Amino acid sequence: MSCPTRTTVHGRSLRSKPDCPLIACSAGFTELTGYSVQEIVGRNCRFLLNGVPSNLIDEATRVKCRAFCMSSSVGEEYTGAPDNLPDGLQKPWVELPKGEMICVQTNARKSGELFRNMFYLKQVELDESHYILGLQAGLPEEFDLDVSLGDLEKRCQVAFCKLEENMTLIEQAPANIIITGHDVTAPTLVLQGTMVRSISPVFYSAKLAYLKIEKFEEAVAMVVHVVFAAGILSTAAPWSSVLPEDAVLVPVEYRPFSRSQPEASVDFASTATLRVLSQALNLSATNVSYAVAGHSAGGAAVYQSMELLALLSTDRDRGSKEILDLAASSLPESEVAELRARLQSAPPKPLPVAAFSFEGSLMPCDVDGWAADWALSPKPLESEDWILPAMEAPSSQWTWFMARACCRSLMERCAASPPAHLHSITQFMQLAEGPRFFYVAGALSKKRNDVVFPALKHAAAATPKRLEIKEIPHAGHNMMHDQPEAVKQIFREAFELPHA
Ligand SMILES: Cc1cc2nc3c(=O)[nH]c(=O)nc-3n(C[C@H](O)[C@H](O)[C@H](O)COP(=O)(O)O)c2cc1C
Repeated sequence: MSCPTRTTVHGRSLRSKPDCPLIACSAGFTELTGYSVQEIVGRNCRFLLNGVPSNLIDEATRVKCRAFCMSSSVGEEYTGAPDNLPDGLQKPWVELPKGEMICVQTNARKSGELFRNMFYLKQVELDESHYILGLQAGLPEEFDLDVSLGDLEKRCQVAFCKLEENMTLIEQAPANIIITGHDVTAPTLVLQGTMVRSISPVFYSAKLAYLKIEKFEEAVAMVVHVVFAAGILSTAAPWSSVLPEDAVLVPVEYRPFSRSQPEASVDFASTATLRVLSQALNLSATNVSYAVAGHSAGGAAVYQSMELLALLSTDRDRGSKEILDLAASSLPESEVAELRARLQSAPPKPLPVAAFSFEGSLMPCDVDGWAADWALSPKPLESEDWILPAMEAPSSQWTWFMARACCRSLMERCAASPPAHLHSITQFMQLAEGPRFFYVAGALSKKRNDVVFPALKHAAAATPKRLEIKEIPHAGHNMMHDQPEAVKQIFREAFELPHA
């Protein structure tokens, strides 16, 4: 085997997991990136791009990685070439066999510090399952062409030959061999003053990963991705510190995608719902556990997706049709295509592990007295002086048009008889076996809670044990501000996560 740089880390992914979640990493990976094994298991390695300015992300490399992962996920050998090496490394010896790839990408450590990462991916087969082994190395900022490439080449070739030997051993290693840290004593290969790690830790960590494969499902089950829809005019920012890591935030960005579409026909809540669904289906296709959650107006998207996910799980054809019909009038064509593909690759019962409504708008009592005023007013209400600053906040994508459309959707759903959201919850709770539904309210919202709680109990009459009503003391509608620890605790308990 021949190719340049080397590394420390690796994660692997199963063929049946289209998004290639990492199942393990070495201590070297943690050292290089700042992420611990607990923080990376179950996630696609793209989190290393979080915080990298988009102009520094090499899109061609990213696309190539995607193609590599895609071939792995369908069990095909990757044949793409040539590989994308830094200037000065375009050497004839850099000819990778099929099933291997090497890239350089700007990545970010957990601390936010950027670094140039050269990583090598190799498709491997263990126990008749397919994995990807990834090895990463930090590169110097500038590649010094004056340095003897010959010397570098020699070192790299030796390193990769050893890796190849090690891979053979890894592939033969019985799963019950326990490797200890004592094995980790090989000389470190240094590339241009930046570390390129020793072979032995690579071997060690590869074996470790191999041993951990057995526990993969368990480990992945501990990572629950929350697909979260924020409330009207708000962003997910105030929620990001209370949501479990890896929450997927549903974009509220919304413009009438067809200028000719009459404003009145825009159903904002359906757009949000379909975006929740699309993310949910994407996660369920990778066998990653996920939950849906929303606050305030975001609840509308949660309720409607609960109903549609329940329908999909009981009657796939009808569910798909209903979703795609709704998408045709509520999403731009590119998103419809994505949703269609996600529907096709979703498992038979793409249900979340739980659904959460944080005082999600549910009944007339939630919208009475304000939503109609908002929906009808051509410009932000002067009586509500927080609206303009909220829309102008740098992280906000809301426009007054969107806020009005959102209010209209909420009013229509609440005005239906029975209120559409309650109907959705009923459908979800009627699943013979299904996840729990958490309705979380601030105790200070007592007046509303007195109406909402009995209505929820009624909607969940078929399976009352699956309904969890949580009332957070000393908190109001914005419980993420009032009692953030209590909100975190609700997720921890629901997902049986260890205490912080
Ligand atoms: C095992 C493994 C390790 C990877 N390591 C890295 C890495 O260190 N840095 C990186 O930028 N991408 C890495 N990738 C690629 C990303 O996970 C992802 O495939 C890439 O960002 C393209 O997909 P996206 O456009 O959906 O993000 C790795 C992929 C796999 C399967």
